[in-house]
Amino acid sequence: MLNEIRRILNAAAPWVLAGFVAAGEVEEEREQALLAAVGREVLEDASLSNPPGMSCTSCHVPEAAFADPRAVSPGAVAGRVGRRNAPSLMYAALIPNMDQEDLLDEAGNQEWVWQGGMFQDGSARTLHEQVRRPFFDGAEMNLRDEAELAERVRKAGYAGRLRGGLTDSEWADDGRVAQRVYRALVEFLKEPMFRPFDARIDDFLAGDESALSEQERRGLEVFRNQGKCADCHFLHETSWPQALLSDFGYDNLGVPSRGEKDPGLGGHTLAEGEMGQFRAPGLRNVALTAPYFHNGSVATLREVVDFYNRRDVEPERWGATDYPETVNRVDLGDLKLSDQEAADLTALMEAFTDRSVLRMRERGERYPEVVPGTPGSWKMRSYFPDWNHAAPPLPPHPPYRGRLLQQEPITTLTH
Ligand code: HEC
Ligand code: HEC
Repeated sequence: MLNEIRRILNAAAPWVLAGFVAAGEVEEEREQALLAAVGREVLEDASLSNPPGMSCTSCHVPEAAFADPRAVSPGAVAGRVGRRNAPSLMYAALIPNMDQEDLLDEAGNQEWVWQGGMFQDGSARTLHEQVRRPFFDGAEMNLRDEAELAERVRKAGYAGRLRGGLTDSEWADDGRVAQRVYRALVEFLKEPMFRPFDARIDDFLAGDESALSEQERRGLEVFRNQGKCADCHFLHETSWPQALLSDFGYDNLGVPSRGEKDPGLGGHTLAEGEMGQFRAPGLRNVALTAPYFHNGSVATLREVVDFYNRRDVEPERWGATDYPETVNRVDLGDLKLSDQEAADLTALMEAFTDRSVLRMRERGERYPEVVPGTPGSWKMRSYFPDWNHAAPPLPPHPPYRGRLLQQEPITTLTH
């Protein structure tokens, strides 16, 4: 049968083929828009927790650029709390999938390092794997399983739209319904409102010198040079045509402990050298997302700068850290910045705030408006990490010994 189809396709005139492909694409584009619209309702749906009352936006608070202003978030069940600070959902769909890069170390030896991945420890390889977890995490939305999730969404106001073209038997399949929910969330997080790129730093990087104040320009100088910030928080474009302000690599900065040790990346790769490492976050909208670092242990941006600048000069100010043996002692800790330079660097980070997010806050709205000219998700599809709806299996390079190779199923748009 397949061979027959191939034979027919091979024999077909090119214009017939073009029409064939385009029809499939039109359907996929329509499906993407439909799911993105439903995704917004899923994100806000407080009936998808047990007990009901908690939605994604209970922790990813719009006002805080969809991060949590609390150091750690309480879950749906009274008394349960998570151990990490909830990061911003802005630009989250642009974070590359978990992967390994090979680098040469100073002696010319090949080394493998982790990059990308979701959650601050990279324990979900893709956004699609990520969005399913909050539903079933006992310290978050606390649902029992996919059957419970499916049962609840079938009763939701958006059920008909979520169902789309699924047949009766497909709609009765809990796993299938749950996959639609994840796909809808992913498609919504890819929407242009979550990637406006309209901060003053964007204007400056595009050539408008007047977009930054004099103090911010001095701060940028520190960010690029003496502060070494741009070594990890990239100002240049990488996987996306605009700056995400991260290289998405992993490091242990030695941030203050908040009780129980958190092994981060090493917790699932099981490599000793990776204990206590976390993924470098993008710094877009960072002025709105306090408190800082994976455990919310540092309250203000000025203190973050002091920490980078003086961690090793005044260790008593910061106290113990979870994994002292893997702390990066080369790139930070004693930057020798003056008070003025530290103030300039702090001021610069205000210029990373998207104006559409500021306007949303001023008007008391829940989502930023789409900045005119932002390309749609379909147009940008090949830039998104999920463009082929599947992350390749991870290569088993050392020091990888963990459990990540087990892949979770990933849905495509039309399934
Ligand atoms: C109880 C609070 C809470 C709820 C509810 C919650 N999250 Fe989160 N979310 C967090 C925390 C905390 C993290 C960081 C966890 C980590 O890094 O290990 C996080 C991380 C994420 C990330 C990864 C961001 C990154 O930079 O790696 C995404 C995406 C996300 N959440 C989406 C969602 C979606 C979608 C929902 C609803 C289905 C949701 N969250 C519900 C607290 C919450
Ligand atoms: C060696 C790589 C590296 C360098 C250099 C670096 N950072 Fe970071 N940055 C990280 C990592 C990794 C994290 C996350 C650490 C954690 O949560 O434990 C981080 C987190 C942050 C955060 C917290 C963001 C949030 O949402 O919680 C800020 C702010 C920040 N860095 C600013 C800077 C500034 C300013 C500089 C320059 C003085 C700098 N970084 C230099 C890797 C780096």
